[in-house]
Formats: sequence, C-alpha cells, structure tokens
Amino acid sequence: MTATQTVGDYDPFDPAVMADPMPYYRRLRDHDPVHYLQKWDAYALSRFADIWHVLEINDGTFVASEGTLPAATVLARHNDGPVPDPPLHPMPFHANFDAPVYDEVRRCTAAPFRPKAVGTLAERIRALANERLDELLPLGRFDLTQDYGGIAAASVVCQLLGLPTELAADVLATVNAGSLAQPGQGVEVAQARPGYLDYLTPVVAHRRAATDTGALPIVDNLLAYRLPDGSALSDTEAAVQLLGVFIGGTETVPKIVAHGLWELSRHPAQLAAVCADLEANVPVAREEMIRFCAPAQWFARTLRRPFTLHDTTMRPGQRIISLLASASRDEREYPEADSFIWDRPIPRLLAFGRGQHFCLGAHLARLEITILVTEWLRRVDHFAIDEAAASRPPSSFQWGWNSLPVEVC
Ligand code: HEM
Repeated sequence: MTATQTVGDYDPFDPAVMADPMPYYRRLRDHDPVHYLQKWDAYALSRFADIWHVLEINDGTFVASEGTLPAATVLARHNDGPVPDPPLHPMPFHANFDAPVYDEVRRCTAAPFRPKAVGTLAERIRALANERLDELLPLGRFDLTQDYGGIAAASVVCQLLGLPTELAADVLATVNAGSLAQPGQGVEVAQARPGYLDYLTPVVAHRRAATDTGALPIVDNLLAYRLPDGSALSDTEAAVQLLGVFIGGTETVPKIVAHGLWELSRHPAQLAAVCADLEANVPVAREEMIRFCAPAQWFARTLRRPFTLHDTTMRPGQRIISLLASASRDEREYPEADSFIWDRPIPRLLAFGRGQHFCLGAHLARLEITILVTEWLRRVDHFAIDEAAASRPPSSFQWGWNSLPVEVC
C-alpha cells in the first residue's frame, strides 16, 4: 500500500491486498470500520469489537446462504433482497444453510472434535511429531511448515476421514494448491475444487458398502442422516460435507506452528521464557501464536434482515465480510497488536470465528499446536529460519507462511 492510497482502494481480491493486507486493515480500522465495497455490495468490518458483536447474532440476521467464503463471481451478483437457503439437492457445504439443516449436518461430523474425543488423539499426535523429527533433524535443513506440522496435521486428517496415512503428503499438496487464490477471483471452498472430492467420495462409497456399523462415525452419521424432506445424501453430497475438515484440518495448524516458532526464535528472551517450563508455558504461547499467525483473512455472511452498525444501515441481500485477521491486530483489543508477546493476556479471540460457524476443529487445533511446539522445543536446541527463502504467497483466503526453510543444529 502506498502513501497516496486510501481505504477506498481496499478490495479483498486485489493483488496488492492479497500480497499484504495488513496496512489496508489498519487504515480501515482507523478511518472506515464499516467500509462499503460497491463492487461486491458488501461491507468490510475490520474492528475486533464490531466483529465480536456481529458474529454473536445468531437469530437469522446474518446467514451464509452464499457461502462463508464466496468467490468473486458470487459477490459480483448483487441481490435485491434476502437470499434463501440453497436447494436441498445437489447439497452444497452445509454452512450455506441456516438451522435446522446446518445444525443437523454439523452435528453429524462433530463427534471426533469434542474435547474428550480429541484428548484420545494426544499420544498419536505426539508420536507423529516425533516420527517427523526423527526423519527431519538429521537432514539439518528442511521446510518447517510443510515437512513438520504439514505432514503431521495431514496425517491426523487422513486418520479422521478414513484415508490411508500414506496419502498425507498428497493431501497436504492438494489442499495447499487449492488455497492459492487467483487475484480477482478468490476461492470457493464448496464448489470449485473437485480434486478434493477424489479423496473423499471413495471414502463415503466404501462406508456405504461396508457391513459393519459405527466404524467411521463422521461418515456413517452423514449416510444415516435424512434431510427435512426425508431424502438422504448422495456419496458426493456427503463427501462435500467433509470439505471443512479436509481443508481446515490440513493447512492452518502447520502455518501457525512454523510461524509461531519463528517468532519465538526472533525473540530469544521469549524463547528462553517459554522453554523454562514447556508444560506450563506452551499452552500460553499457543494462544498468542494463534492470534498473531492464524492465516484465514475473512469470512462472509449475507443479510436476511436490516442491520445498523456505526450509523450505517445494511439491507437484506447485502453482505458483510468479517476481517478476522484485522480483528486480531486491532490495537483497541490488543495493546501493541503488531508485536508478538508470548504471554500477553488474550481474554477474547476471534481467530476461530464466533457464534454459529465457530471452528469445529478448535480443540484439535489447540492440541496439535501444543504438542508440535512442545516436541520441537524439547528436541531442538538451536534453529534458524532462512528468511530470504521463506514464502507467503498472496491469498484472499489463507495468507500464511507456506514455506519456512529452517536450519537446525
Ligand atoms: C488454529 C487452527 C484453525 C483456525 C485458526 C481455524 C479457523 C476457523 C474459522 C475462523 C472458522 C469460522 C469460519 C466462519 O466464520 O465462517 C472455522 C471453521 C471451521 N473449521 Fe477451523 N480453524 C482451525 C483449525 C481447524 C481444524 C484442525 C479443523 C478440523 C480438523 C477445522 C475445521 C473447521 C470446520 C469444519 C469449520 C466450518 C464450521 C462451520 O461452518 O460449521 N479447523 N475455522
């Protein structure tokens, strides 16, 4: 962003914004917290308190009937009024529906993500972390994002979705490629990435043909589910409901772990403080890593009822874009928000969203980050990121450090 640019230049799909949105977010927060984007008939909300307030409203005022992450082609169509839920068939990702369909389908996939179920994965995640370190540390140099957390997180996703863990590297590469939004276009989670379904549809077909019961609840529950009209989900429709886990579970945690470790290495006093008691301190540092490093930029909702915020009244059919990444850097919520401070108080956090669409994988994500960071700090005495070779590709969706080459000794 140049000195002469204004908040009016903010466009989530603009190449300059996708390359570094942070200066735009600051201007929006300071000068136009309810910024109207004429081209997309949408309001960009940038302040923590406003987004916190709006996302807690779950009375049908804000729905995701056009998707939580609509592509530019969707936003380019301006609506005359409220957008109804999509048709039941072919069923898109359930987040596009309001209650009851949304809640019922989300419940089908929720069992492995409840705190107790997640807790049973701890030893498996620790083993995966150590397997990765056994293989990587002797190399001396490797990619901290992809080779360490990336493979570990993708392996957990494979296990949860009934895929062979040997596919973890392929799954990781596929999801990474899918998140590379094109300037001017964005990404469309539910529709535009059929390559993902090549993994997921066979899993569903396999479970449908199986004679045993309850072996893979996340899929079995979807197959047993009946929509309000009594119909069932096809294999493809059930596979589409797994996309959130497939994508969210694979690409976010590795970027946060690698970037968070980098921040600690840049601040040796903070690194020493965390290492002084890993068990007590990593869970504290983890929250700052999530605040500071979470790569998701924004999620959208479409209005079904009028809503007024800071004297701006929005009409049914218009959209809001909640800039979660801006909220995490809002000085009004977090003093010195652009500084990484491992033990800062974080009474409220928006990185996992809030309200109806609150991240299904939040417990798992926290556990994975805790274990991956702990095992790394337990086994690696000295490490240095090769900043010149690091890469954070432009994206309107997941703007994070895809590649962080690291040297260990
Ligand atoms: C630290 C890592 C993670 C962060 C920061 C994160 C962030 C988010 C956010 C902000 C949302 C809300 C989107 C919205 O408001 O429209 C969300 C939704 C979701 N996340 Fe995560 N996520 C993370 C890890 C995970 C993991 C590990 C999984 C699963 C294994 C996962 C699965 C999902 C799913 C399925 C949804 C959709 C929820 C719904 O619309 O009902 N996420 N995530």
